[in-house]
Parts: sequence; structure tokens; C-alpha cells
Amino acid sequence: MSVRSDVARMSAYTLELRMAEVKLNQNESPFDFPQQLKQQVLDRVAKRSWNIYPDFESISLRAALASAYSSPPPPAQRGEGPGVRGLTPDNILVGNGSNELLAAAIGAYAGPGTPVIFPRPTFTLYEKLITIAGGLALPIDFDPDSGFLPLERMLDTITQHPGAVVILCSPNNPTGGVLPEGGLDRLLESGATVLFDRAYGDFADDALPPLHERLVTFSTFSKAWGLAGLRVGWLASTAENCREIRKVKLPYSLNIISETIAEVALGNREIRDRNVAAIVSERARVAAALGENPRITLFPSSANFLTFRTQRPCKEIFEALCARGILVRDVSSYPRLENCLRVSIGSREQNDRFITALKETA
Ligand SMILES: Cc1ncc(COP(=O)(O)O)c(C=O)c1O
Repeated sequence: MSVRSDVARMSAYTLELRMAEVKLNQNESPFDFPQQLKQQVLDRVAKRSWNIYPDFESISLRAALASAYSSPPPPAQRGEGPGVRGLTPDNILVGNGSNELLAAAIGAYAGPGTPVIFPRPTFTLYEKLITIAGGLALPIDFDPDSGFLPLERMLDTITQHPGAVVILCSPNNPTGGVLPEGGLDRLLESGATVLFDRAYGDFADDALPPLHERLVTFSTFSKAWGLAGLRVGWLASTAENCREIRKVKLPYSLNIISETIAEVALGNREIRDRNVAAIVSERARVAAALGENPRITLFPSSANFLTFRTQRPCKEIFEALCARGILVRDVSSYPRLENCLRVSIGSREQNDRFITALKETA
């Protein structure tokens, strides 16, 4: 039995499994969900019937998201921008991590031969999903030094490929850079369909953008909410777009436990706010420490990680950090990221260990 040749040429999304005392390789939050809220989730879930399928439409979670992110937000939510006018549960789909929703949306918008434009280096899943859909992948390679995504070159490429789909994350993983101010509006004005992944948007103080007929935004509980183990993501778009994407998405992808955790989290938004404030302040501290080292080139980052180029071969530094109990991500195989490592921002103590270890090794 032979698989499709384009799939045979692909590699699976994977990560070498390494144990480390200080795990700073997957952009996870260093802060666990509070114990008493975990207990609250367990109590609520224990009252449910586990022999019954979850609500097919995830209505209560979608309603909780719509109310949390609609305008005007309740006073406690002001930290995250003005909220989206007219956001209702019909504008929202939830999935088993935003990965699942990215796959559904690419499946819905990119068929065989559809031009799909994306900045590169970026989250490698995008290119895989485009390949699986049979789309025409149009990567825009860029250097991460400026801290910005290559907006003008993306716009030029859209002009050459009318009807293109654009997929990007801002802040971008793994470089940390963002779209220049007004970039999303300009992409939408160009006529492209934009799949906008805001997995790290909270760390850049970006609000959920207003609804637009050619815009789908993807958000996740994995980063700012510190709930990567939960596997819940959500997308927002017009009701019509949500209806179409839902045809591609798998049914019942959220279980009753994940739904309950997400709802409890939304009822306790100060957790997200505290996480974000701590990470943003630590990011500045770690960046300043790295900036003092002349053998390191640090790229500007608005995310919960920092990416930097080393003078010594980065693989040697990666191993030396591992030997000191610190696991970072070797991103040197990405285009334009030779000799680069990425470190997630951890707790103050984790960051101190990383800073000290890097001083000794880089
Ligand atoms: C840009 C980007 N989008 C999406 C995801 C995945 O999010 P989720 O955990 O919700 O599937 C990641 C995970 O690292 C990411 O970096």
C-alpha cells in the first residue's frame, strides 16, 4: 500500500523527548493552574454523566468565550483590549487545541492549487497542513533581526496571486516578531483571506481583532492561560465562515473535562492576567541579560520566548545547557535560523538558572 507521494516526502511533527529539571523548550507557562480550581473542575465533572456524549455544539463554552471577548467587556476583563463588538457564540468554534482548528480552516479555504502565503521561518505545522490540502505553498523567507514580519513582500505576493490565503502568527513562532502596525488591516484590504493565529497575542497586548468576512482568528488556552495540557483552542470569525469551517472539523473533539476546565478558567481571568504580567516582565529581564553578552544576537520578541543566535555552534551550547539541567529548543534547522536557539520565559528562578548557565556556555 503506498501513501500519497507528497505525504511520503513530509516528516511528522515531532520533538525529541528529553527530560530536564528546567524545561524551557515548548513555550509553556511556568505557572500551573491553581489547585483549588483543579478541585472545582473535578467536582463539576464528577457530577456529569460520563456515559453520555458531550454537547455536540459546545454551547456553554462558546457562550462563555463570546461573553468574555465581546464588547463592552466587564470591568475585570479590561486588560485585554476593548473586546469585539457583536461577538456571539455563532462566531466561535472550539477544538482540541488550536492545531485542530488550523487544520479545519486550511482544509476549508485551501484546496488543490490554492496559493497560500506565509512568512518563514514560522510554525512548521502550517506548511504541513498546506501540503496535505494540496495547496500551493508560497513561503516568504525573512530575517528575524528587525522584529517584524515581511508585510510588504506578503502584499506584493498577494498582488501576484489574487484570491490567495495568508496564514501567519503574530507574534511569530519561533522568531518572536510581529506584523507592523496596521498590517492586518492592509492584508485584509488586499483582498486576501487571512488566517491569523494569535497563540502568543496576549504577550504582545494584542486584542482580538474585529470580525471580518475574510478573517479567521485562532486563539489557544495553551500559552497565556497556562493550560497546554488541556488541549483547547478556539477560532472566531463571521457566523457564515464558522458554519463552513465546521463542515471540515471533526465532531466531538472536546471532551467534558476540557470543556469544564476552559469554562472555569474563563471565570477566573485574573489567572491569565497574572501569568501574562509575570512573563512580560521576566521577558524584559532575560532579554536585558542576554543583551549584555556580545557573543549573542537576540531577536526582538513580543511572545513568551526569546530566540537568539550564538557565535559558538548552537548545538554545543544546547548540549552544555542540557548538561546543566536546562532544556531549550534548537531551532537551527529552520530556514534563516542557523545557529539559533529559542528559550521559553519561565519562572524567575528558572530564568536565573538559564541566564547563569548561558553565561558559562555561550
Ligand atoms: C503559532 C502556534 N500556533 C498554535 C500552536 C498550538 O496551539 P495549541 O496548543 O492550541 O494546539 C502553537 C504551539 O506551540 C504555536 O506556536
